Amino acid sequence: MTQDELKKAVGQAAVDYIAPKLQRDSIIGVGTGSTANCFIDALGKLKDDFEGAVASSDASAERLQKLGITVYDLNEVSELLVYVDGADESNAQLELIKGGGAALTREKIVTAVSREFVCIADESKWVDVLGAFPLPVEVIPMARSYVARELVKLGGDPVYRTGVVTDNGNVILDVHHLEIMEPKKLEAEINQIAGVVTNGLFARRGADVLLLGTAEGVKTIK
Ligand code: 5RP
Repeated sequence: MTQDELKKAVGQAAVDYIAPKLQRDSIIGVGTGSTANCFIDALGKLKDDFEGAVASSDASAERLQKLGITVYDLNEVSELLVYVDGADESNAQLELIKGGGAALTREKIVTAVSREFVCIADESKWVDVLGAFPLPVEVIPMARSYVARELVKLGGDPVYRTGVVTDNGNVILDVHHLEIMEPKKLEAEINQIAGVVTNGLFARRGADVLLLGTAEGVKTIK
C-alpha cells in the first residue's frame, strides 16, 4: 500500500471508531493535515449523525463546511466528544510530535477540550525516540532570535520556517537534531521560554488511541 492509501485507511478507521459514540448533539474536534483531510472526507457520510465540529485550522474549517458540516467557534463549546488528528511522530507511549502543518497551538487547545484524542497516522510516523522530525515551536515574531538562542542552549538546532505565518499571526522555528528522551520535561521547558506560544510536543497530554496504518492493516494502539 502507498502512504496515501494508508492515510485513507486510517481516516476511514477513525470514522468507524467514533461512529458508535456519536449522538445528535455531539460536537467533535477535527485536526489538520493530509491525514486529517482523509478523515474529514470520510466523515461526510456521517454528517447528519452529529451536531458539528470545531476545527484546528482555517483550512480544515473550510473543508468541513464544504461537506455541509457546521463549524463552531471553540468559545461556544464547553467540551468536545473526541478529537481526531494526525501526527508527525508517535512513540509507544503515544507521545507525539505535531505541527508539521503549523497548526500546533490550535491543535493543542482543541486537544485540551476533548474527552478523547484519537491520533491517526501511517506507519512512517512510528518511532522509538521522538526527535528525528524537527520539533515545531510557534513563536511571537519579535521573540524569534531570542527563542532560537534559548533553543540552542537546550541542545537543538532551530531553523526559521520562512514564508509561514500561523493562523494566529506567529512564526515557526523547527528544531533539528533533538533526541527527546524525556518528552514531558522538554515540552514544559520549551513552553517556559518567553515568546514561545507553544511547542509541538504532545506528551503531557498525548493521544489516548493511535490508529496506525500498516501494510498488515490498521492497528489500534492504546
Ligand atoms: C499539523 C499537524 C499534522 O497533524 C501533522 O503535521 C501530520 O500531517 P500529515 O497528516 O499531513 O502528515 O500536526 O500541524
